[in-house]
Amino acid sequence: MKNYSVGISGVGSFVPENILTNYDLMKMVDTSNEWIVERTGIRERRIGSKDISTSDLGTEAAKRALKDANLKPEDIDLIIVATITPDHLFPSTACIIQDNLKATNAAAMDINAACTGFVYGIVTGASFVKSGMYDRVLVIGGENLSKIIDWKDRNTCVLFGDGAGACVLERCDEGYGILSYELGSDGENRQVLIQPGGGSKIPASMESIEDNLHTLKMDGREVFKFAVRTMERTSKVALERANLQVEDIDLLIPHQANIRIIDAARKKLDLPMDRIYVNLDRYGNMSSASIPVALDEAIRDKKIKKGDNILFAGFGAGLTWGSLILKWNKEEDNV
Ligand code: UT7
Repeated sequence: MKNYSVGISGVGSFVPENILTNYDLMKMVDTSNEWIVERTGIRERRIGSKDISTSDLGTEAAKRALKDANLKPEDIDLIIVATITPDHLFPSTACIIQDNLKATNAAAMDINAACTGFVYGIVTGASFVKSGMYDRVLVIGGENLSKIIDWKDRNTCVLFGDGAGACVLERCDEGYGILSYELGSDGENRQVLIQPGGGSKIPASMESIEDNLHTLKMDGREVFKFAVRTMERTSKVALERANLQVEDIDLLIPHQANIRIIDAARKKLDLPMDRIYVNLDRYGNMSSASIPVALDEAIRDKKIKKGDNILFAGFGAGLTWGSLILKWNKEEDNV
């Protein structure tokens, strides 16, 4: 079994054009801009039009990542899509994107680890490259959450948005790329964040629709407590496994759910604010797309350079969590 170093060779993202502001939401539910900004940090989010699906967003993000990596679709050996809003329960959204791209040499599969999905996807994809089984893996985090939101529930509808981000994984020089990671799960607490209907437990029926079981349900306070605990703990596990200290981290890219969660984790980790990338004010929580979209923006904002230690930390439904540390292996683009 080979043991190659694995890094990110291309990054891309795509969000729908349509912006839904807090003021727009005030016309839909009993809420206020002040409440949403103060309690979450979110000011606006992107909402895909009716005819847009997760594969459309993911395909565009993937095209941009391939361009950034200087690769053609047929160079890709495996496509992994992390999503909780697939186009269909089956076939996989990865297969639809494989067809859209004409990635004729790629295997394709979806994984579902909710908001931690992108971290799970990177770890899964990297394992194939590390072992020498595949040379190039495309990992996409894409969500069309607006389709599963209960737009009458002010507790949840103000939080989420649509988007997609993608990365290409390839071998890199030793000492660079993925240094460590941790993935975890706690299925016992699965009820705190769930879309109950539409699967084999509660298939679609007149009753399930009347009971509104096909939309996202969340116990916000429980998820909040879990998130704060987890962000700190999983980040520390990844640091320990990479034999690094908090001071060695150049940029933390957290799952973008709530500025108060990020702030609490930041304080617990004792990381200065300028070493955390935050874009949730403009996009809300895009679940598995949050981290790759933020990564793409951080690169374009010139916040990342070769040799930097980058920490991803996420949590989500399942419950799941995951962290990963990369030593950035890509030279800055000169454009
Ligand atoms: O990716 C993982 C997914 N989820 C998360 O990360 C979410 C984690 N949880 C959170 O971010 C927070 O718990 C929320 C933002 C969801 C809620 O904030 P909170 O500070 O925990 O508020 P709360 O649920 O304790 O509610 C406080 C009050 C309630 O009113 P009462 O019962 O005190 O009268 C809510 O009904 O705020 C009310 N409220 C709202 N008011 C105006 C809840 N949502 C809204 C709203 N606008 N949109």
